[in-house]
Amino acid sequence: MVSFGAIKYVKMEILKSSAALIAWRNQYQSSAIGFVPTMGALHLGHLSLMIKSKIDNDKTLASIFVNPTQFNDPKDFLHYPSTIESDISMLEDAGIDAVFIPAVEDMYPEVAVENFHIPILTESLEAKMRPGHFDGVITIIRKLFDLAQANRVYLGEKDFQQLSIISAWVKKEKRAEVIVPCPTHRESSGLAMSSRNQRLQEKQLKEATLLFQILNTVKENKFNNTPVEWELWARSLFAQSPSFRLDYFEIIDADTFGPLAAWEDSENPIAVVAAFLGEVRLIDNMRL
Ligand code: PAF
Repeated sequence: MVSFGAIKYVKMEILKSSAALIAWRNQYQSSAIGFVPTMGALHLGHLSLMIKSKIDNDKTLASIFVNPTQFNDPKDFLHYPSTIESDISMLEDAGIDAVFIPAVEDMYPEVAVENFHIPILTESLEAKMRPGHFDGVITIIRKLFDLAQANRVYLGEKDFQQLSIISAWVKKEKRAEVIVPCPTHRESSGLAMSSRNQRLQEKQLKEATLLFQILNTVKENKFNNTPVEWELWARSLFAQSPSFRLDYFEIIDADTFGPLAAWEDSENPIAVVAAFLGEVRLIDNMRL
């Protein structure tokens, strides 16, 4: 610890192995630990999770690990942005207590990927478009959670299906972690913040706002059309935009992930979208 007069500055620990993380965690047996798992290329959305964790807990642990088993597309894995130096500076400036940055061999001494299945939740949308993705997510989440032994874990609502699946898994396995959902952060243009945005050219950054514009139009004019009519409208807009290749635009119930024929069918409707803009896959959602 470095002391500048009354201000005490605790240096962030960089933990590069499971053994180092276990040793760090053992020092704080009786502390409330908040954990923010990430794949790096950090932005202000990540930072908001870190700050929330700092407010709620005694210690905040972040992790940076680009998990190979959750990439169904090898090209996406290869091009996933990496900004490790600036990530570390951002975490240090935010006053994070420790960051776990393991090697692939440490996380995967064996390549076994577990299988987690809940009807609809692990069959639809992202699961359908990215086969094996959530099995990879749950595999790494179990490893990270077992090591971190956190009281609270902070996850972004932008990855809405991931958040729902991890929450369902924690419940099913009767784990102790409390999952804290954190709102999506947006650029002033409305574009949802995402590490993958770093791969977009200037022109594409403007085009990418189409996702937000469509979601927001549906939200603000919800009762002018049925959910199915809105879906058809949104899909037709993507079809008219040659830069995009739409994976899905759906309006579903946020709890069951079932489709909606009418607004009365759900107290918790949400619109979810995934589309390629060039080679970059964008996802977003909005509660309606
Ligand atoms: O959302 C992410 O960044 C990743 O899917 C996560 C939760 C860190 C697991 O690799």
